[in-house]
Amino acid sequence: MAEANLGNHDASASASNSGLEKPIYDPNAPSAIEVQHIVKKYGDFTAVDDVSFNVKEGEIFGLLGPNGAGKSTLIRMMTTLIPITSGYARIAGHDVAKEPNAARRTIGVIPQALTSDLDLTVEENMNIYAKLYDVPAKERKKSIDELLELVDLTKWRNAATKTLSGGMRRRLEIARGLVHHPRIFFLDEPTTGLDPVSRVAVWEMLGNIKEHRQLTILITTHYMDEADRLCDRIAIVDHGKLVALDSPMALKASVPGSNVIEAQFDNAPADWEQRLHGLSEVTSVQPEGAGMYRVLTDNGSRTTTELVEMAVHSKVPVKSLSVQNTTLDDVFVHYTGRQLRDELQKAYGYTMPQRPGLQP
Ligand SMILES: Nc1ncnc2c1ncn2[C@@H]1O[C@H](COP(=O)(O)OP(=O)(O)OP(=O)(O)O)[C@@H](O)[C@H]1O
Ligand SMILES: [Mg+2]
Repeated sequence: MAEANLGNHDASASASNSGLEKPIYDPNAPSAIEVQHIVKKYGDFTAVDDVSFNVKEGEIFGLLGPNGAGKSTLIRMMTTLIPITSGYARIAGHDVAKEPNAARRTIGVIPQALTSDLDLTVEENMNIYAKLYDVPAKERKKSIDELLELVDLTKWRNAATKTLSGGMRRRLEIARGLVHHPRIFFLDEPTTGLDPVSRVAVWEMLGNIKEHRQLTILITTHYMDEADRLCDRIAIVDHGKLVALDSPMALKASVPGSNVIEAQFDNAPADWEQRLHGLSEVTSVQPEGAGMYRVLTDNGSRTTTELVEMAVHSKVPVKSLSVQNTTLDDVFVHYTGRQLRDELQKAYGYTMPQRPGLQP
């Protein structure tokens, strides 16, 4: 496995180098979340293994990793839901083990499972939470009105929750989690199981809400495009360990090869992978089955030209070909030696079902 990219994670440094990425949080801001050498053991099994990171105020921080990586366990420890085996977590300066109530007052949590009450209306679900969190009666209506507007559910306020689509229900739960004005918002896989249109709607909504409410957001996901688009910085976790942490751009830049060629061939000979490896500037080749290869290269156009010439010369038909910039997929493979897509397919098959009733 490659050495983890765990240097000094100042997203602004990589941003100013590239001139393309502009973090909207202040990298010199105080830490909203501090996690140091945190460990969670279940008997002999270590679910979270010595993880440390800081999240700055105003940052959107992503925890990215496959099923069972330890993402939910990390969130549960940070949000006081389960005890920490060793190490510590501070939320807005409060040690979660020593001052759990003070920590809880500053946070909103959206757990992985959907938890809104199906028999209540949208507004009733919001109201119950507002009362639970002692939001004063006169502020309640204002906060609920504002949040329903932000998640685009105003016209559904009197609808029974059971009539909402999965995406709308998720949006309701996000609004509900903010009704007491938390400063730090934890979301555990808010878009898993949603269709692509609903996923984009949730992303856009989170961006709006973050600006409106000046939140710090910690979000877990196994969608790379989501992490890439939403997060100021990303921590990749695998088997309970932190394997890389940086801005999406810096993570992609840390992988050898700046372009990815995806090409599918008919009847490629047995030594094809090796021959692809031999093309100029190629840094790695991953066979993906059904004649498909993912070729990382430092020079997309030169490698592509040589690849096509080699295929023509060898009479190996090219069925499809695309050249892209490297993605977080490549980052994941680089640091873990595995494809996140494969991990998810093992767990889910080809579709991502909703997982109601599951943890936490
Ligand atoms: N209460 C528990 N007792 C024993 N093992 C547990 C418990 N909770 C979680 N684990 C194990 O800890 C590991 C991390 O689980 P966790 O739920 O944190 O993963 P995750 O990254 O959130 O995965 P997913 O993407 O499936 O939600 C898994 O191997 C899981 O089986
Ligand atoms: Mg989880």
